[in-house]
Amino acid sequence: MPNNDLLERIIPRDVFWKIAEPWMWQTPLNTEEEALIEKAVDKRKSEFRAGRHCAHALFNAQGIACNALLKGVQREPAWPQGWVGSISHTKGLCVVAIAPKSRYQSIGLDVEQATPLSADVLDLICNPQEQDRLNAIKFRHGNEFASAPLDKVIFSAKESIHKTYFPLNHHTLDFLDAQIALEASNGTFEAIIVNPEPRPRTCIDRLSGRFSINRDFVASCIVLEQQG
Ligand SMILES: CC(C)(COP(=O)(O)OP(=O)(O)OC[C@H]1O[C@@H](n2cnc3c(N)ncnc32)[C@H](O)[C@@H]1OP(=O)(O)O)[C@@H](O)C(=O)NCCC(=O)NCCS
Repeated sequence: MPNNDLLERIIPRDVFWKIAEPWMWQTPLNTEEEALIEKAVDKRKSEFRAGRHCAHALFNAQGIACNALLKGVQREPAWPQGWVGSISHTKGLCVVAIAPKSRYQSIGLDVEQATPLSADVLDLICNPQEQDRLNAIKFRHGNEFASAPLDKVIFSAKESIHKTYFPLNHHTLDFLDAQIALEASNGTFEAIIVNPEPRPRTCIDRLSGRFSINRDFVASCIVLEQQG
């Protein structure tokens, strides 16, 4: 499955998204953005540039001024007023999604290499119930998911939760603070936030999202719609 299809399956149609073009990984940004990666190693510079150029292209296409996309209290992008979005990069793929705040409260997007989690981190990412469910999926669906890195999908879904949750609550959830149930037959997942921020600005106890897998990558996306 090409990378466009991978992402098309998980990102709603009314969200604007783009895969970074090859030139975007290497071309320096403006002074303010370059200052954020002044001391970074080359790999970090290149992924940051890809994400920022890609975001600029998306906002340009919408006629929105976004000359410098700086960061907030952590590494979360400081999106232009009235917009939300998400950035993800992994070796060989960088994707950015943006949408108007009038429609969505927050977006979390994540791409990862399609390789399994190493045994030593599995227990840090997936609780025993999640691991049991993954084994059940492999048993139920047989060959289709026998070698699919579903544990990496859980990891990706949790990264997407963080990118959705943090901008609204300025709180970092631990990987075991959310419990994921994958629905392998239709590429969706449900998440329960089992240990939320005690006094959240935005109360979120459940999130749902979509995931997809191709030969090289796994991807996940969560969009939190505005109420009413
Ligand atoms: C921040 C984090 C999610 C990045 O994930 P990653 O797979 O290493 O990298 P990705 O390329 O997918 O994502 C990086 C991008 O996420 C965005 N991002 C970083 N911190 C963020 C935050 N707190 N909120 C929203 N977006 C954030 C940034 O745009 C960043 O790219 P940039 O620095 O070039 O702008 C991860 O390193 C992390 O800290 N995770 C711990 C928290 C967590 O995931 N908990 C699980 C909750 S269930």
